[in-house]
Amino acid sequence: MSTSNKITIAIDGYSSCGKSTMAKALAKKMGYVFIDSGAMYRGVTLYCMRHKLFDQEENPLIAEIIAALPEIAIDFKFNVETGTSDLHLNGENVEQAIRMPDVAARVSAVASIKEVRSKLVEEQRKMGLSGGIVMDGRDIGSVVFPHAELKLFVTAKPEIRAERRLKELELKGVDTNFDEVLKNLQERDYLDSTRSESPLIKTSDAIEIDTSDLTPVSQLALAYELAQKCLKC
Ligand code: CDP
Repeated sequence: MSTSNKITIAIDGYSSCGKSTMAKALAKKMGYVFIDSGAMYRGVTLYCMRHKLFDQEENPLIAEIIAALPEIAIDFKFNVETGTSDLHLNGENVEQAIRMPDVAARVSAVASIKEVRSKLVEEQRKMGLSGGIVMDGRDIGSVVFPHAELKLFVTAKPEIRAERRLKELELKGVDTNFDEVLKNLQERDYLDSTRSESPLIKTSDAIEIDTSDLTPVSQLALAYELAQKCLKC
């Protein structure tokens, strides 16, 4: 809930729907803090990969991961060169590494571990204590900030999402293809919506935005208009 006249904005939805782009731009336009909660799950996953906390079938070693949680420090630090907040894992800037397909392939399994979620949700709630925050993820409106004044649920057609993600990865020089990217998005959608711990759901008070035919500019305009309406309520 907000203190002063700043509200809390929760943005949830499937992968590559344009959530983070919209959330980042909205936060900038409103002078709010932006938190990409998915980056935090990706950071924990990268730690687990570096410490070989997966079995031969690439399933997470749950007990070992839970035991390692006190060793994992996740922070965001502002990067003056890029003007964005980068994810730091135990003091190291891992913003590039966490966006790679090898992390994407494992993150949903790690994010389904209850203790991983409890740790990160506690940190996310602390970040939102004074309102004036835009956070995007899968459980923001349902679990992290159930009293958020504005909740958006973002969707888009899977093929459009895969095309968008492929372009992002190609710009980073990652060697991948449309089918591989689509498969990863669909697998994560399935795991994220069917897991027992805080699955991705659209809460009854969330406003759905289908971004399939929206440009980033019109998407931002829509979200900003909704936020302005909410501030007047
Ligand atoms: O950017 P993209 O939409 O691909 O995903 P992300 O926001 O970086 O999140 C990566 C993964 O973290 C998701 O597929 C979820 O498994 C998990 N996640 C979650 O469980 N809860 C959140 N609040 C955010 C992400």
